[in-house]
Amino acid sequence: MDSTAPASDGIEGVRLNDSPGWHYLLHEFEALYRHGSAGGSKAIRSHRRKVRETLSSVVDGNPLVHPRPPETKPVTAHLHRAFDLGARTPMFGLSRALERISPLLTWEYGYAKVPPHLARKYAYCEVLGPRGPVVTERITLGFVLFAPRTTYPQHSHHDIEESYISIAGAWSENQLAVYAPGSLILNRPGEEHRITTGDDDPCLLAYAWVGPTDRLTDPGMKFSKARKRAEQGI
Ligand SMILES: [Fe+2]
Repeated sequence: MDSTAPASDGIEGVRLNDSPGWHYLLHEFEALYRHGSAGGSKAIRSHRRKVRETLSSVVDGNPLVHPRPPETKPVTAHLHRAFDLGARTPMFGLSRALERISPLLTWEYGYAKVPPHLARKYAYCEVLGPRGPVVTERITLGFVLFAPRTTYPQHSHHDIEESYISIAGAWSENQLAVYAPGSLILNRPGEEHRITTGDDDPCLLAYAWVGPTDRLTDPGMKFSKARKRAEQGI
């Protein structure tokens, strides 16, 4: 690292300790996985522990912060509404910390082919992982944003254990329950899941991916063959 580099977010070669916006965001993320209940689930308790211990260790190592060009997508027109909703919930710490650095976020789709209707209603941004902006090969953390009345098609993740924590808005997974801010959902490797959001508000979820480095680097995201049926609610 160039020790003469200015202490601000998103300057090439800067370390996390010189990037307060990213540092505070990860601090809030770690608190999210440290506090709160596992609901009696051993799998969730173990996942929470893995995420927070890996994250603490990465932060202690003062990783590089590589800037990525900020990018918006059509759905990011809903982002400020999501922050307004998040500010009213117990998730306000993470919501605020993300809002502070939102001009630096790189929103993307992550799929080679995105159906046009979904391209208007969904995007995600990574905040820590192999591609940065905070660089590590050990874990991926990010946020996904959905517009109201969205169905995010059926998919699964090879070798990756995924959790979502609701920050703002209500949603359901596999049409089986409705989740509110603070809820954590665990999707183990290979488990098929799809998301639907409510009629009136956007939905902002934080996510964590734990898995082998090669999968975190190249997750090979594809919708499942059952996508069409799922979109039709069958
Ligand atoms: Fe997923």
